[in-house]
Amino acid sequence: MTNPISTRKHGDVLIVESNNPPVNALSAAVRQGLVEAIEQGEADDGVKALVIACEGQTFFAGADITEFGKPPVMPWLPEVVDRIEACSKPVVAAIHGTALGGGLEVALGCHYRVAVPSAKLGTPEVKLGLLPGAGGTQRLPRVAGVEKALQMCATGNPIGAKEAYESGLVDRLIEGDLVPHAVAYAEEVSDVRPLPRSSERQDRVENVDASVFDDFRKANGRKFRGFDAPDANIRAVKVATEKPYGEGVIEERKLFMELMSGGQAKAQQYFFFAERKAAKIDDIPEDTKPRDIKRVGVIGAGTMGGGISMNFLSAGIPVTIVEMGQDALDRGTGVVRNNYEASATKGRFTASQVEQAMGLLNPTLDFDALADCDLIIEAVYENMDVKKEVFGRLDTIAKPGAILASNTSYLNVDEIASSTSRPQDVVGLHFFSPANIMKLLEVVRGAKTAPDVLLTAMRIGKKIRKVPVVAGVCHGFIGNRMLMPRQVEATKLLLEGASPEQIDKVHVEFGMPMGPFQMADLAGVDIGWHRDPNRIENIRDALCAIERWGQKKGAGFYDYDEARRPNPSPVVQDIIEDFAKKQGVERREISTQEIVERTIYPMVNEGAKILEEGMAQRASDVDVVWVYGYGWPVYRGGPMYWADHGEGLQKIVDGLKRNEERMKPEFSFSKLLLDKAEKGERFTR
Ligand code: 3HC
Repeated sequence: MTNPISTRKHGDVLIVESNNPPVNALSAAVRQGLVEAIEQGEADDGVKALVIACEGQTFFAGADITEFGKPPVMPWLPEVVDRIEACSKPVVAAIHGTALGGGLEVALGCHYRVAVPSAKLGTPEVKLGLLPGAGGTQRLPRVAGVEKALQMCATGNPIGAKEAYESGLVDRLIEGDLVPHAVAYAEEVSDVRPLPRSSERQDRVENVDASVFDDFRKANGRKFRGFDAPDANIRAVKVATEKPYGEGVIEERKLFMELMSGGQAKAQQYFFFAERKAAKIDDIPEDTKPRDIKRVGVIGAGTMGGGISMNFLSAGIPVTIVEMGQDALDRGTGVVRNNYEASATKGRFTASQVEQAMGLLNPTLDFDALADCDLIIEAVYENMDVKKEVFGRLDTIAKPGAILASNTSYLNVDEIASSTSRPQDVVGLHFFSPANIMKLLEVVRGAKTAPDVLLTAMRIGKKIRKVPVVAGVCHGFIGNRMLMPRQVEATKLLLEGASPEQIDKVHVEFGMPMGPFQMADLAGVDIGWHRDPNRIENIRDALCAIERWGQKKGAGFYDYDEARRPNPSPVVQDIIEDFAKKQGVERREISTQEIVERTIYPMVNEGAKILEEGMAQRASDVDVVWVYGYGWPVYRGGPMYWADHGEGLQKIVDGLKRNEERMKPEFSFSKLLLDKAEKGERFTR
């Protein structure tokens, strides 16, 4: 194995450089190399100071996650960081790209930190269900202050170099070539003694009011609900304000080990790789080249069309947005501007960024203006005839090689493609609402979609900061298809005796952001309604007929007060009981367990069918869809991971069998699920 760490001298400064692509993760070889380099610098009388830098796209982006769960290889990271800090000569970290996790801990072990302005520094361990376990929770508050450390450790969100500089985490911002400037800085500080050792600093962790921690917990209660790691991070940072460093690291280690051996960390680490795997398309030729996307067209300036456009505008890609009437066009453009301005008020954009984005938007009534677009996304009314009409028309206008995409959430992309003379250029791009916020993008691969079209769709998805996942053509693709059995059974359970709030509570306690009926109220109970108030065939029709269309009307499955808080509705209860009577359904007590077995287990069954039919490339893709599209709790990995590791396939099969009769005729078993359960196999690793 070649040593990823090399050293070279510049005058009396030893430059220690890591070259461990792609992200300079702190693998065993890197750790070993760093210790050797420090020892080399210390032993060499010609060396007065050291600079630790990284080649490639980034400074150390953290511990090597692939080593987690394997037997530890020495030296372990805490020892490496301590060794750097103990060096008798000044060590300067030269930071570019991202100094994350163990990478930031290495930087904190250095006596000084310099960074280019574009660098980001963070402790994302919490997102892996962990905490910075190489002294990070104890050194960071000592250097950057308690509030900054709390924020960084408990949320995992990195900060920019400028903010890091202002907090004291970075000692100098470097404009220009990083390494030569870092060497000059090292020369400047080479004679300064005592060396500033992060672990020895006390000034920023003394006399800290303990209310800081409680306030922080309270302010973030909703965000942290269900997760173990944020609280452990808060506790560890608090220890830094209560105990000397030596005792603090022992507590940190204890908390780290507890988290590492828990199920949440395993699920979150699984998900880290699942997300990255989702970007990969299994079966396209390796030499496939993406098409160039310089201008995007969007048809429809409604909520979806506007939100979709914003993604491209924010990424600096010009958008031509087309509507049928001036009013709708003006309304749509106004909503885009308002959304940007609201984000600007929250500090997410500057006023000039808003103007820049709006300047890239070309609103028009002229369909022909789409002729110079490289990618055209249709976001019109969800109806096959309408979509086919739009695509037929697009076919005559779009330039050769343009990608024609539909934002349909259920419809058959192959049928849509058949209304053009170029089905190879057609793909589904299913954005989730609100389209400018939600990270998931289902990329629907039609039977004739060309490999380069699929590749381009995945690449452009990443460029606009989505998480793209490939799905096959089937009703509802991956996400909505799995939602259907959940909705069917939830509604049946209402008739059989459960209340909307009882069912929703089970889902919220499971970790979902909301339950099926809260979701229906938010999305609109009237979505897909036939619009005939006299035709009442189910509970939904009955609600729609009396304009209980959900939150937008202040009433749906729940009543809403002025603060949009849901309250159980006696009217809805009457409607449910009335239907049950009419249909001869005997009402009974419904247990939490039955709700789980009938509304969550069938989702796993549907996920298995999706895999069996090849509609998802891999089980982990199904998990990515559910975490990013519907807020499945990432600490449970996703439905397929949860089925494997949380619940167990045999238990799920048994639960489904128990309820099979009640779930018929809509329900049928996935053969793949039955097979895997019987053989003791798993969907995920
Ligand atoms: N260990 C192992 N592999 C890693 C890794 C890590 N820490 N970080 C990234 N990789 C791999 C990815 O899996 C991916 O591999 P692939 O090409 O085979 O799919 C490759 O590096 C490139 O990663 P991305 O696709 O994510 O590249 P981006 O350029 O989009 O993002 C990044 C780069 C911001 C560094 C992002 O990869 C990232 O956030 N990495 C994780 C950072 C992290 O969580 N660090 C903390 C680790 S835990 C720790 O340090 C514990 C310590 O406190 C004891």
